[in-house]
Amino acid sequence: MEILAFGVQADERPLIEKAFAPHHDIRCLDVFLTEDTAPIAAGYEVISTSVNAILDNRVLQTLAAGGTQMIAQRSTGFNNIDLQVAERLGLTVARVSSYSPYSVAEFAWTLAMAVNRRIVRASNRTRDFDFRLDGLMGRDLRGRTAGVLGTGKIGEAFTRIAHGFGMNLLGWDVAENPACVGLGMKYVDKDQLLAESDLISLHVPLLPATRHLIGSAALRAMKDDAILVNSSRGGLIDTEALVAELRAGRFTGVGLDVYEAEAGLFFLDKSLEVVEDDTLARLVTFPNVVVTSHQAYYTEDAVGQIIEATVTNVLDYLAGRRSENVLVPALPAS
Ligand SMILES: NC(=O)c1ccc[n+]([C@@H]2O[C@H](COP(=O)([O-])OP(=O)(O)OC[C@H]3O[C@@H](n4cnc5c(N)ncnc54)[C@H](O)[C@@H]3O)[C@@H](O)[C@H]2O)c1
Repeated sequence: MEILAFGVQADERPLIEKAFAPHHDIRCLDVFLTEDTAPIAAGYEVISTSVNAILDNRVLQTLAAGGTQMIAQRSTGFNNIDLQVAERLGLTVARVSSYSPYSVAEFAWTLAMAVNRRIVRASNRTRDFDFRLDGLMGRDLRGRTAGVLGTGKIGEAFTRIAHGFGMNLLGWDVAENPACVGLGMKYVDKDQLLAESDLISLHVPLLPATRHLIGSAALRAMKDDAILVNSSRGGLIDTEALVAELRAGRFTGVGLDVYEAEAGLFFLDKSLEVVEDDTLARLVTFPNVVVTSHQAYYTEDAVGQIIEATVTNVLDYLAGRRSENVLVPALPAS
């Protein structure tokens, strides 16, 4: 059988081809799955999609009409898929429920330290043979407070690194993680975490309950010199509200690996086009902001694990096996 994979990055392609080779043929496309590209899937029973694919009602209808029956999403998050519609259409959707949480946690720390120690500005200066230190002052983190919103797998890995820095640890989650408690984390309500933390890192999933978790009120509750990092999902932050606070001169630094309107932008070369997104255009002008394009997961280790799990998900589907990675069809209530 030939499987069709959308949104395959150049580095990823040989890994995907090698992983599928012993089992099935694979056709890799660099285009993302959208309404425009969905007709390409006609005749493919199994397709694989990436995190910025758009799997809404129209796309899913097109896929089902073209004979697609299984979608293997190459990510943990699945907020881009309308699961109710997929289930109604009788599609099977699987994701990769876990892979190296260190990839994302270590990248969140990379962003935190880049903004804290002004690495981008410093590097730009030395390239220009400007060796002044003005405007490059950062802060020791030892003894300061890290606030972790979402202490699941990635939040826990982030917390372990914060512990290594000698930081005080505050956590917020619907459920306490005993490993984080063991590191000395104190669970508090969100308002207390926002008010007391010097570094705030977001690791909750994007759900209706967490959309714009960090809006105007939350941003105002933070310390003026706080560092904010989002390596989870863009929709957790109200970006317009963040821009308003940054314009007021607030925050030591903001590191964003995700952006709420990233679909159609991130992973693509838009450098020759007129910028249409005024919010993003403004965001990248702040000297205390670093934006990266959803690359936190992008390590050899994590991508290798994602591909391995995707192959397993496809083989499980074809063999009629069910695993925890299957999102729909839902298991019958027991
Ligand atoms: N930037 C990237 O490349 C990248 C890669 C992988 C994952 N992510 C994001 O990171 C997120 C976290 O991943 P993970 O593997 O740690 O997931 P996880 O399921 O292990 O942890 C999520 C945590 O959030 C908590 N949570 C869920 N809903 C909540 C709510 N309403 N209020 C408070 N807490 C809530 C859960 O209890 C859990 O502890 C993913 O959902 C995904 O959005 C980003």
